[in-house]
Amino acid sequence: MDKNLIITNATLVTPVGRSARRGPEMGCLKTTGHATIVVSDGIITYAGPSEDYTVSDDTAYTRIDAADRVVLPGFVDSHTHLIFGGYRPDEFGWRLNGESYMSIMQRGGGIQSTVNATRSASAEELVEKAQWFIDRMSEMGVTTVEAKSGYGLDTPSELKMLNAIETLATKPGQKLNIVATFLGAHAVPKEYKGRTEEYVDLMIGEMLPAVKGKAEFFDIFTEKNVFEIEDSRRLLKAAKEAGFKLKLHADEIVTLGGAELAAEMGAVSADHLLHVSDDGIQRMAKEGVVATLLPLTAFSLREPYAPARKFIEAGAAVALATDLNPGSCFSGSIPLTIALACIYMGMTIEETITALTLNGAAAVDKSHEIGSIEPGKKGDLVILEFSNYRMLPYYVGMNCVNTTIHEGNIVYSHK
Ligand code: NIG
Ligand code: FE
Repeated sequence: MDKNLIITNATLVTPVGRSARRGPEMGCLKTTGHATIVVSDGIITYAGPSEDYTVSDDTAYTRIDAADRVVLPGFVDSHTHLIFGGYRPDEFGWRLNGESYMSIMQRGGGIQSTVNATRSASAEELVEKAQWFIDRMSEMGVTTVEAKSGYGLDTPSELKMLNAIETLATKPGQKLNIVATFLGAHAVPKEYKGRTEEYVDLMIGEMLPAVKGKAEFFDIFTEKNVFEIEDSRRLLKAAKEAGFKLKLHADEIVTLGGAELAAEMGAVSADHLLHVSDDGIQRMAKEGVVATLLPLTAFSLREPYAPARKFIEAGAAVALATDLNPGSCFSGSIPLTIALACIYMGMTIEETITALTLNGAAAVDKSHEIGSIEPGKKGDLVILEFSNYRMLPYYVGMNCVNTTIHEGNIVYSHK
C-alpha cells in the first residue's frame, strides 16, 4: 500500500471546489480529455491535461492507463446504518402486504427488533458483518461512508456499535474512510416506552458524555411519535454544546418541521425530507444545510420521492446517499440510487454526480479534503468501464465501476 499512483489517458470528470455546490452550480462538472492524475502519498498532486505533465519513470508509482475511460471522484455515501444485528425479511413481507413502516414500529417491531439483535451480537460479529457491506460498497466506487450507531439505545450497546465503527475505520488496509455518527435518538427503547423524556434525560446526562470522541456527528429521528420537535430541539442543543456536528432524519414520514429545525440549529445536513414543507426548503437553502436525499428508501417504502428539483431551484445543496439499513431500505446500491435520482427525481446526471461526490463530502463536513479531483484533495477515485459518464443512469441499476482507488491505492479492480 504505497499510496503513489499515476493515471494516464483519463477522461477526467469532476465537480470543482472545497465546499458544497448549490443550486445551478450542481450541474457544472469540469471535463478534461486525455488527462493525467497523479497521487503522491495518498494526496492528488496533479490533475489536468497530459501535455502539461511530464510523467517520470519513478518506480515508486503504480501506473494505470485509463484508455479514455471516465475517472470520477470516489463516491461518498453520507447516510448509512452500516452496523446492525440480524435482518428483517418478515417485516419486508408485511409491508408488501400493506402494513405501514410506522405501524410495525409502534407494535414493537421495526427498529426495536434490530435493537434486540444488535444488543445480543458481539462486537466481532458486528465488525465482520459490516466489513462484508464495505466490500460491496467499494465495488460500487464508494471511498467514504458515514456509519451510524442507533441500534443499541443504551450506553453499553451504543458504545459497542461505535467501537465496532472505530475498529473498521482503523483496520489496516481498510478500503474506505468511515465517518462515525451517534444515533442514540433513533427510537425510544422498549424499556423507556411511554417515558420519552426520561430517555432524553439519559441521552443528555449519560450517553452524550460517554460517546464523546467516538463520533463526529449526532443524528436524531425527528418524527411524529418518535422524537417530536421539542424533544429534538433539546437533544440537538445538548449535542451541539457537547461539540457534536448535527444531522437530522427530518420529515421522512410526515411533515413535522424537521427541516426548519435543522436550519434553526445550524445542522450540517437534514436527511430524507420526503414530506418537507416549502418553508423548510427555503430555510435550509438560506442556512446552507445540505439536503441529503435517499431515493432507495422512498422506493422501498413506496413513498413519494423527495422534491430534489425544489431544493435545487431554491439554491440548496443536494446530496444523495443510500440509507443502507435492515428495515426501511435494505439496499446500498449506488447504481440504483443514480438511476432513481435521474429517472424519478428529475435530477440531471451532472447534478447526480455532484450530489454523490462533492455534496456528499459536504454532508459529512469533508468537502475540503474529498469529493473532487483537485490537487490537495485525497486520491479517492473511481474509474468507470465507459468513456461517457452518461452511461451511469442509462445502465439502470448496474455497476459501471471498473476500478476503485482509495488514497492512491487500488482497492477494487474488475479485470
Ligand atoms: O433512515 N427512519 C429511521 N431510521 C432509518 C430506518 C431504520 C430501520 O428501519 O431500521 C431510516 O429510514
Ligand atoms: Fe437513516
